[in-house]
Amino acid sequence: MKTLKVNLTKALKGEIKAPGDKSISHRAVMIGGISEGKTRITGFLTAEDTINSARAMLNLGVNIEGIGTESIIVNGKGLLGLREPENVLDLGNSGTGIRLLTGLLAGQGFFSVLTGDSSLRKRPMGRVIKPLKMMGADISGRENDTKAPVAIKGTKLKGIDYNSPISSAQVKSSLLLAGLYAEGETKIAEPMKSRDHTERMLRYLGAEIKEKGLSVSIKGGQRLKGAELKIPGDISSAAFFMVAASVVEGSDVIIRDTGINSTRTGIIDVLKMMGADIEILNKMDFGLEPVADIRIRYAPLKGAVISGGLVPRAIDEFPILCVAGALADGETVIRDAKELRVKESDRIAAMADGLRRMGVDIEEFDDGLRIAGRERLSGAVCKSYCDHRVAMAIIIAGLRADGETIIEDTEWINTSFPDFMEKLNSLKG
Ligand code: S3P
Repeated sequence: MKTLKVNLTKALKGEIKAPGDKSISHRAVMIGGISEGKTRITGFLTAEDTINSARAMLNLGVNIEGIGTESIIVNGKGLLGLREPENVLDLGNSGTGIRLLTGLLAGQGFFSVLTGDSSLRKRPMGRVIKPLKMMGADISGRENDTKAPVAIKGTKLKGIDYNSPISSAQVKSSLLLAGLYAEGETKIAEPMKSRDHTERMLRYLGAEIKEKGLSVSIKGGQRLKGAELKIPGDISSAAFFMVAASVVEGSDVIIRDTGINSTRTGIIDVLKMMGADIEILNKMDFGLEPVADIRIRYAPLKGAVISGGLVPRAIDEFPILCVAGALADGETVIRDAKELRVKESDRIAAMADGLRRMGVDIEEFDDGLRIAGRERLSGAVCKSYCDHRVAMAIIIAGLRADGETIIEDTEWINTSFPDFMEKLNSLKG
């Protein structure tokens, strides 16, 4: 168990680069592995979750050079070149890892078993298993096929027309990857648009994906060709520094080369709505994804209502948005965010507990929270709930708390952002 201590801080100043985008890194090793020829990836996230995905592809017979570094070469095996893994594939803490691979493996000609850590084994898998079974997949899992470990007997798949009840890029991506192996067309519609990294990458590597309103479709059997993939910095990791700079007086921080895909920039929209001083500089295109430098200067925040279409566009940012709300003038209300209950932890309960311990008046709803903002927080002993983003959010809250804040079980930060504390300390000068 690793414990971290933080105290009230003075202005944060300087420049950092956020680590590589986690969502895109997972996709790059998986999709690179079923492409033909080499996929050269730069900016790959070297954290536990994405390294687990790379190892899974290795165990599926894909030769990958440079695992553990930011520059990886995936020697793709083509659509039909994966082989049966000798052992269970362990995706650790990663919902993206296990759900995307379940789709990718459903149509293979072999058997595989996927599992993860105690948090991942509690998370819903039925959301992908159910539609994959409609495609003809043979998948079983614990608790009536709703939890990992899951066992997949590769079978022939057929395309379906699926109306997803939730906006989830993991569900959409799992079905798109299965759709590559299915006969005919696979079409997925979702209630609100979720992140589109899979669609972009498949297209970039040569597949045709049709998009109409809130639905996407793919035809089976399309061959992919390896290419260079430049991965932007993760806006979900940058978000912790965006809020930190917004709430610590005198701060001025630039986060370089950050992904600004509009399906991910809900955090910028919400913070601007709360009065944050954010500038988007040097917009560029990394081929695959749009990027920019983000400059954030201290500005007093005011409470806001965050709901509806903003929710999927900021889905991973709610722990840190709760901290922004706790330090804003007035009340912040989060609704339509029931999905937060099934993330790496129950993030509604976890953030309510942490911030309550720090003196914040919080009401929990089934699908969100009401947070009464304060000028300062009070240092307390808080738990990470085995969740990287809860741990990092509470650390930022501690920068604006009187007295010491102690955060327990912070080793979970390694799943997405191993050098988070180094980067934070570099801004303290
Ligand atoms: C992700 C999608 C989101 C997000 C997760 C990463 C992805 O999950 O919360 O951290 O890479 O596709 P859902 O698809 O469950 O919303």
